Amino acid sequence: MKILDLKESNLTADELIALMTLVGNELPEPLSMRVDIPAYLEKITNNGECYILIDSKQGPAGFIGFYTNDKKNRKAYLSIISILPHFQGKGYGKKLMELMISKCVEMGMIDISLEVQSTNIKAINCYKKFGFNNVAIKADKIVMCKNI
Ligand SMILES: CC(C)(COP(=O)(O)OP(=O)(O)OC[C@H]1O[C@@H](n2cnc3c(N)ncnc32)[C@H](O)[C@@H]1OP(=O)(O)O)[C@@H](O)C(=O)NCCC(=O)NCCS
Repeated sequence: MKILDLKESNLTADELIALMTLVGNELPEPLSMRVDIPAYLEKITNNGECYILIDSKQGPAGFIGFYTNDKKNRKAYLSIISILPHFQGKGYGKKLMELMISKCVEMGMIDISLEVQSTNIKAINCYKKFGFNNVAIKADKIVMCKNI
């Protein structure tokens, strides 16, 4: 398994959209139901960092995307983390979280926040494991934050 910076991948625009749709479908609210995928991809690649988890035999296995453009307040934001079902529960989510945290530290960010559905126990457990704390409730979502 390797982790590739999206900027260094040679995926075509169509392949990227297909990948985002695939990983986005694993979210409790599928990404394609909430956003226009090409516009979202443009926004997150221009304002943040994206990494793809790639299995040498089966291809893309997961994705993480986080914003790092708030240079004034130095606040990062985890926008998407998704591991395809076959690869879940094998430590890959933790690998992507570790990568995000180390990149955010390198970039001088002071905290990372995120929103998660309050019923998404796997994700909440994963975030708690990395020291994210609940900071607010927004309807059916919890806002979590970690100082780094
Ligand atoms: C949430 C998600 C990213 C975790 O990634 P993963 O590769 O499955 O998780 P890992 O194997 O790295 O485990 C990380 C931690 O998640 C939690 N976790 C993982 N599987 C779990 C399960 N079946 N039940 C409860 N907690 C679980 C645990 O805290 C685990 O740490 P531990 O193994 O040391 O106890 C992944 O399951 C996923 O993509 N889910 C669907 C998309 C999604 O909901 N994304 C988050 C949107 S906010």
